Amino acid sequence: MSEVLHFPRGFLWGAATAAYQVEGAAGEDGRGDSIWDTFCRLPGAVVDGHTGDEACNHYHRYREDVALMRSLNLGSYRFSTSWPRIQPDGRKTNTAGLDFYSRLVDELHAAQIKPWLTLYHWDLPQALEDDGGWANRDTAYRFAEYALAVHEVLGDRVDVWTTLNEPWCSAFLGYGSGVHAPGRQSRPDALAAMHHLLLGHGLAVTELRQLAPKAKLGLTLNFTVVDPVDPNDPADLDAARRIDGQFNRAFLDPVFHGAYPADFLADVAKYGLEERIFPGDMNTICAPIDTLGVNYYHGEAVTGHPRADAGNAHAAPVERELAPPYPAADQVSVVPRGLPTTAMGWEVQPEGLYRLLTRLQEDYSGPAGTALYITENGAAYDDVVGPDGSVEDPERLEFIRAHLFQCHKAIGAGVDLRGYFGWSLMDNFEWAWGYHKRFGLVRVDYTTLERTVKASGSWFANVAGTNSVRAGV
Ligand code: FCB
Repeated sequence: MSEVLHFPRGFLWGAATAAYQVEGAAGEDGRGDSIWDTFCRLPGAVVDGHTGDEACNHYHRYREDVALMRSLNLGSYRFSTSWPRIQPDGRKTNTAGLDFYSRLVDELHAAQIKPWLTLYHWDLPQALEDDGGWANRDTAYRFAEYALAVHEVLGDRVDVWTTLNEPWCSAFLGYGSGVHAPGRQSRPDALAAMHHLLLGHGLAVTELRQLAPKAKLGLTLNFTVVDPVDPNDPADLDAARRIDGQFNRAFLDPVFHGAYPADFLADVAKYGLEERIFPGDMNTICAPIDTLGVNYYHGEAVTGHPRADAGNAHAAPVERELAPPYPAADQVSVVPRGLPTTAMGWEVQPEGLYRLLTRLQEDYSGPAGTALYITENGAAYDDVVGPDGSVEDPERLEFIRAHLFQCHKAIGAGVDLRGYFGWSLMDNFEWAWGYHKRFGLVRVDYTTLERTVKASGSWFANVAGTNSVRAGV
């Protein structure tokens, strides 16, 4: 028996990308270096030394890509603007760089696709990193100025503004573990970066709100759903509390409640975070937001006991030595549960999404009147191209279907979930993994840059077109 699940009228279906992962054209029209350009040149930082120099050449192929989106029945495109394309030195605006986004937005409108703009998806201008990067408080103010510069040109045509994508990754992978740009390995810097990213978010929201009271403002966070291996073991419970604190609550509590969680502050006490918090900061950070973007890929089971098979679940197999991403969880190990995994080694755990959404609704977004959107969900698998050039990717299709099923269930339970963006529109530069991991609904041949809609993409087009998903067989 198969059952058709209908989504609420007006549910937004989209797909997402990020500037550095798809644009290419790294040296064109006055673009400056970002921390990712520098990082990719660092020996052993990215698998096989891949870079985003060419990527999918979305910069020149955006018309074709928008046509592709239209053929997939997408109602919205989530993309990010490249700060160093718009402000090569992090300060002065380069009109030629902004023009690209102006053309892209016009093309989207012509195709009746809503632009969903993210201001920061990890590509800090290198010039600002040279001045201390996100560990320097000043970067938060530069970010707010950059937000205004983009708004000045696109504000008349874009009404959804996301400040940051996954500040957890920017801070803890970029400044803590060193697996992401800028590759620093300092716990005090990681915590300072976290605070300054959140401050930059709050400053930008405050400024944009004044200029554009009707715009929808928010940020995108990534989440984990963490379970203790043994719910009766105090060490495992403490491990779960720490990961929940350092992954989820360290970002949610400031944004929605205006304070870092007390247990988190105690855990990281020796790294100087509290000295970074100036009077008024927390008030700025909890400026009301209209949308919370939810990125969900997987949850994890953790233990507080030493494990021989403990690994760093977020790390790519790079040559550089990496440090742990969490500032205060050295005794915590992730324990594989025997669930199926994707090509990233991430466990497939759709029910975690239901638990995450209901928790957000109850504890954070619901009381604040903030709407939830899935801004990223999807999976990498080792796609095989058939003799006729087609890509049958049933695992990705089933992954998305299973997560949509949980979205539908959450909506039924009263969660104010208004949209779903698949990650990603197309295969692209997967950070420290280079081009080795493919997340696209559309395949990109990196030799010819030819795009081919995968079977999951055709299926998703049907979901978006009918506003419904078929469950079961
Ligand atoms: C998220 C990032 C996105 C992509 C996916 C797989 O953490 O926001 O750019 O790399 O993971």
